[in-house]
Amino acid sequence: MNILAIETSCDETGVALLRATGGLRAPRFSVLANLVSSQIPIHRPFGGVVPNLAKREHLKNLPLLWEKISGHDPEFIKKIDLITVTVGPGLEPALWTGIEFAKKLAKEYKKPLIGANHLEGHLYSFLLPSSVAPVQAENKVIFPAAALIASGGHTVLLRMESFSKWRRLGETRDDAAGEAFDKVARLLDLPYPGGPEIEKLAAAGDPKAIAFPRPMLHEKNYDFSFSGLKTAVLYYLKGNEKKRMKREFKCDVAASFQQAAIDVLVLKTMRAAEEYDARSVILCGGVAANGKLRSDMQHAAKKSGLSFFVPSNAYNSDNGAMIGAAGYMARLRKKTYRLSAQGTLDI
Ligand code: KG4
Ligand code: ZN
Repeated sequence: MNILAIETSCDETGVALLRATGGLRAPRFSVLANLVSSQIPIHRPFGGVVPNLAKREHLKNLPLLWEKISGHDPEFIKKIDLITVTVGPGLEPALWTGIEFAKKLAKEYKKPLIGANHLEGHLYSFLLPSSVAPVQAENKVIFPAAALIASGGHTVLLRMESFSKWRRLGETRDDAAGEAFDKVARLLDLPYPGGPEIEKLAAAGDPKAIAFPRPMLHEKNYDFSFSGLKTAVLYYLKGNEKKRMKREFKCDVAASFQQAAIDVLVLKTMRAAEEYDARSVILCGGVAANGKLRSDMQHAAKKSGLSFFVPSNAYNSDNGAMIGAAGYMARLRKKTYRLSAQGTLDI
């Protein structure tokens, strides 16, 4: 079936068209279009996402992306079998814009509409095809799996039995991993979003230069905590005021912070994989765009003889295609979501 998907949970407006086939054991996707309009330049001066500005931009972008994807072609409308839209979690004023837009389209063109969970979008995004490594989604090679979702709003570790059954093993008790990258970037006077900026600086720094803490690494649970790590960076910078603006120093701070965050994410995920006899490790969410995190997780999985799945970079940060995948899977699972903004929706 052909699915039109809409994503407006944060600061990216996403509209995508996917072709989805297969059942719950072997779903297959092809992405016919994946349009993303980023609002980064709008929010950058504020150092983070401003919900009402996000709402205003989504309202402006949605009709433009719809026009671009459909090209006013009546044949395009006929092709769509299902519309799906993110209902949460996310910023409610932003979520509402997508939901209302999707409702209007569904009514006008008489198409079925279902809600999608943003976190499920991240979780299934490794199934979207990439030119690098097409995923052959065979149940037997993937499950059980340890899946880490690391984004700007969430850090959740799951044990997955199948594409439709999973259990939350742990989550962050304070800041999400991406949020920690964003906050540390601000301490280093880097622009929003901080993740890619930290990664750039870190590439020229020494990850062993500063021994930042690895919070909750040795605790016997699968929860995370990143606010203490951010505070450790803050105190380190305060203790080194004179060097603070030197590029070499900043690179070492960025590299050491990045490695501390990555070590916790990788080691806890691998510990879960071991304890639950996983066959694979899945990494997803905006933070999965981080090359060092991807390669460290991949090496760790390989060392333990596990398969490793990560979305291609086009699908890590928020986009419509992943919501199309989530909508299709929700439909196969017969899971329904209310068509209203649910800011704190869980996975
Ligand atoms: O999944 P996402 O696009 O939005 C949410 O659902 O939150 O994730 C955005 C987060 C931001 O905090 C951003 O700084 C982080 O992902 N991020 C990264 C990188 N690229 C984006 N963090 C570390 N390294 C990166 N290269
Ligand atoms: Zn996201």
